[in-house]
Amino acid sequence: MPKKWLDTFVDFHNQIVPQIPVLDMENGELPIDKADLLARYEQTIQRNGIAISVLLIENKTEIIGFSAVWIANKDKSTIADGGLTAVAERWRKNNIGTFLKAILLKYLTEKLPNINLINTSNSSINVPVLKINQTLGFEKKADEFIIEFKNSIL
Ligand SMILES: CC(C)(COP(=O)(O)OP(=O)(O)OC[C@H]1O[C@@H](n2cnc3c(N)ncnc32)[C@H](O)[C@@H]1OP(=O)(O)O)[C@@H](O)C(=O)NCCC(=O)NCCS
Repeated sequence: MPKKWLDTFVDFHNQIVPQIPVLDMENGELPIDKADLLARYEQTIQRNGIAISVLLIENKTEIIGFSAVWIANKDKSTIADGGLTAVAERWRKNNIGTFLKAILLKYLTEKLPNINLINTSNSSINVPVLKINQTLGFEKKADEFIIEFKNSIL
């Protein structure tokens, strides 16, 4: 994440958090602060991991939405852990959430060929996320939705 976007990203993320269904919050989506986020990025990089966030920006100043993924080891990992996907309220229902997550999956398939699975999780009451995951080819396995890239529609 470019450093100049960190403050805006943290503000946007924390505006979204109260809008996440409580059941999904239990999966770990809590308010963040800049220092913690930087520390998490730093720790990830030190372990040869990578965090990728696709941001959609308006007027070069505002975030419309983002979708994120974390990979423990960028050379060895075959699995990516889906992070939060979020879209500003006024932009919702325009397929932006689907678009952002699709772009992220496309980037992963092209840039990190070791990755053959991505997992994500959401509660059954989060209808838009369920639809996004189904559209992109995620399948429910145990408690998580998993996508195998060979089955991806991308
Ligand atoms: C989840 C979220 C990112 C979806 O963003 P979005 O841009 O509105 O999503 P899309 O427009 O791509 O919608 C995907 C599908 O869900 C449907 N949908 C969107 N909002 C809906 C709602 N409130 N109720 C029912 N269906 C909805 C869309 O019509 C679309 O269906 P389709 O594929 O049949 O056309 C957004 O609602 C959000 O930021 N929520 C808060 C954060 C959150 O809960 N993130 C996920 C945590 S696991």
